[in-house]
Amino acid sequence: MVFRNILSRESNDIHLIISISYNLISYPTNQKEKTMRTKIIAGNWKMYKDINESAELLNSLKSKLAVLPNGVKAIVCPPFTSLALAKELLKGSPIALGAQNMYPEDEGAFTAEISPKMLRSVGCQYVILGHSERRQYFHESDEFINKKVKKALAAGLIPIICVGESLQEREKNITNLVVTTQITGCVQGIPASDIEKSIIAYEPVWAIGTGKVATPQQAQDVHKLIRELLAKLYSSSTAEKVTIQYGGSVKPENAKELLHQPDIDGALVGGACLKADSFTAIVQAAV
Ligand code: PGA
Repeated sequence: MVFRNILSRESNDIHLIISISYNLISYPTNQKEKTMRTKIIAGNWKMYKDINESAELLNSLKSKLAVLPNGVKAIVCPPFTSLALAKELLKGSPIALGAQNMYPEDEGAFTAEISPKMLRSVGCQYVILGHSERRQYFHESDEFINKKVKKALAAGLIPIICVGESLQEREKNITNLVVTTQITGCVQGIPASDIEKSIIAYEPVWAIGTGKVATPQQAQDVHKLIRELLAKLYSSSTAEKVTIQYGGSVKPENAKELLHQPDIDGALVGGACLKADSFTAIVQAAV
């Protein structure tokens, strides 16, 4: 898939991507500019929870997370059909609302699609873009995701941009190249001021929904690479401001260690966000 993407580019692009990937190995992040980043825990409900089940989970989260720990943000991303309800039920709650996808047009004849403006009108502040399931089952390319990121930002939504390698790619030892290619494509043409408020979620595909979590060191290594890439593409001060979440089988039992790695600023949680107790425990593990 990555090879296909790369091969379809001009050879200049190939050289750029490969040289960025290799240069990163020794590119230092400027320690002096380290900033304290808020930890952000987002729950990706995927295609779970009808309207009644959503109400139950939202009410339970609202009472368990009535006060968030200092320096921690929590976001829920229910399916589209539950967003309007979530806006109502989360009134007065510190939990923010996000969507799982959007179409990169303001409006038009795009049957079944949802615009950024529609998401804003039901209270969304965030939107997950380029999730590996969208890439895998709906063939979303970095170019298409890049369009979505731009539209989301223009509409005042904060994008959660997902990247990550497959098992085959990790075994071939091309994780760095894959993640570098994805991020370079997804942030193309986006100014530093917009990237600084965006979220990147590193989700190794082999760890999603499999129970196989990346070790804290494996995750930290890729997060560091991502921050160094952002420093290279923008500046080290921009790179230090970007929130980089880890996703892939995050659970209360493994959250603390992952969330305390220096470059891991939060989690994108799938399975464990479907129960109020486990999502709450992950939010609490972030402090
Ligand atoms: P998981 O999903 O926590 O169930 O592995 C994470 C995700 O896909 O965002």
